Amino acid sequence: MEKQMLRSVLKKLKENNELKICKKEVDIKFELGAVLKHFKNTKPILFEKVKRSKASVIGGMFGVRDIWYNMLNSNRDERIFKMMDAIANPKPTKLLKNGPVLQNVVLNNINLTSLFPIPTYHEKDSASFITAGIVLIKDPETGKRYTSVRRLQVNSGNNLSLLIASPLLTKQIEILESKNKQLEIAVIIGYDFEFLLASQISSSLYGVDKYGVDSALRGEALELVKCRTVDLEVPAYAEIVLEGVVRPKNRKKEGPFGELMGYYGGIGNHPTVDITAVLHRNNPIYQTSFPCREEHLSNALAREVELYRSLDKMVDVNDVHITTGGGCRFHAVVSINKKSEGDSKAAIISALGSDKDLKHVIIVDEDIDIFDADDVEGAIATRVQGAKDIVIIPNALGSGLDPSHNLSGTTDKVGIDATKPLGENRVNFDKAVIPKYGDIDINKYF
Ligand SMILES: Cc1cc2nc3c(=O)[nH]c(=O)nc-3n(C[C@H](O)[C@H](O)[C@H](O)COP(=O)(O)O)c2cc1C
Repeated sequence: MEKQMLRSVLKKLKENNELKICKKEVDIKFELGAVLKHFKNTKPILFEKVKRSKASVIGGMFGVRDIWYNMLNSNRDERIFKMMDAIANPKPTKLLKNGPVLQNVVLNNINLTSLFPIPTYHEKDSASFITAGIVLIKDPETGKRYTSVRRLQVNSGNNLSLLIASPLLTKQIEILESKNKQLEIAVIIGYDFEFLLASQISSSLYGVDKYGVDSALRGEALELVKCRTVDLEVPAYAEIVLEGVVRPKNRKKEGPFGELMGYYGGIGNHPTVDITAVLHRNNPIYQTSFPCREEHLSNALAREVELYRSLDKMVDVNDVHITTGGGCRFHAVVSINKKSEGDSKAAIISALGSDKDLKHVIIVDEDIDIFDADDVEGAIATRVQGAKDIVIIPNALGSGLDPSHNLSGTTDKVGIDATKPLGENRVNFDKAVIPKYGDIDINKYF
């Protein structure tokens, strides 16, 4: 029985009553995105009927923490340590001779928009975009495989533009371009939670084979098959794989595109990819991500590992939460066990220093639930005095996804110390308690 990639996930989601099925026919231009936007990526939705296409579409799969924990056989308390372990101890993959993704191999006259229902989301988007494709490259010297989600603009026929905001991949393309060589890639569509999460860990920080991290996360070898036109291996149970080459010094205009924070990203000249083969299963399910904050939750889960590691060197940290409201990168809430008065400011320094994208951080005590926005707001309301508890670092480097950063090319970073004081005044911050509140079975009362 199939255990890896999208179809195994759909089976589990159905069993848990977590999959919504859209039976009405939808248009991939705007309409499908409007339905996904309505649910803010918090409901996995299978669109069974799509205009002008035989394939169905899955979206909204990756925006709920509890679904993530369940799919990873983990929970809130263990998630960070499970990921740390997988990054530190990658496991081998398994190469199969054949797999469902090879059921159909298209080598000639490739026309991506007639093969698959690739949505257009926003009014000013320059084209339709593949938004959930996981791009695979292999380091020619070490053989390590690096995966990451990169959006791909559909230019025409088999030609795509590739948006890269990654130092490693940008460097690799530049080196190959200087030698007039092309880069082989594969784009994987129709995968599962482990495959996406492994793709989100930073290549330049860890330099680890992400396929190995995937095998470690899933607790069994990731099963692969060989591509037909490029020297790469791809998941045997994926729905769709696009094989292709990034041609040297061949750039095209990419964008505008409505991005995760709800604004349009600008137009740039980006590398192009020629698709040389398309592999797909029978009755392929096309996977998409509506570009909104929630779809980046996988990225937040990976960033939380880095944030935790950075804080752990300085203070006694309980847990960290990179919130979806802040685009899964700009905002974090950190819970610490405060041992000395300097701990909260030390936590601010190490949090803001851990990642250029992190803009605002709130430090709270262990009695605040960092996943409950009301609880965190309550701590800010009652434990903060602005003049002494707010730290502002002006003009630091930030993220181009924040339009206010792009006005000057810098970002002010802010830390809020919402912890209780130590010493005799601490008792004033004890929360009112109902004895045995946690033991109450509320169903008995109704
Ligand atoms: C849904 C989604 C879409 C993304 N789109 C892009 C993109 O278009 N371009 C990009 O450079 N990164 C994008 N990312 C982020 C990268 O996939 C992510 O930073 C990855 O970890 C990069 O790995 P790297 O360190 O190997 O570059 C996206 C992430 C998600 C979850």
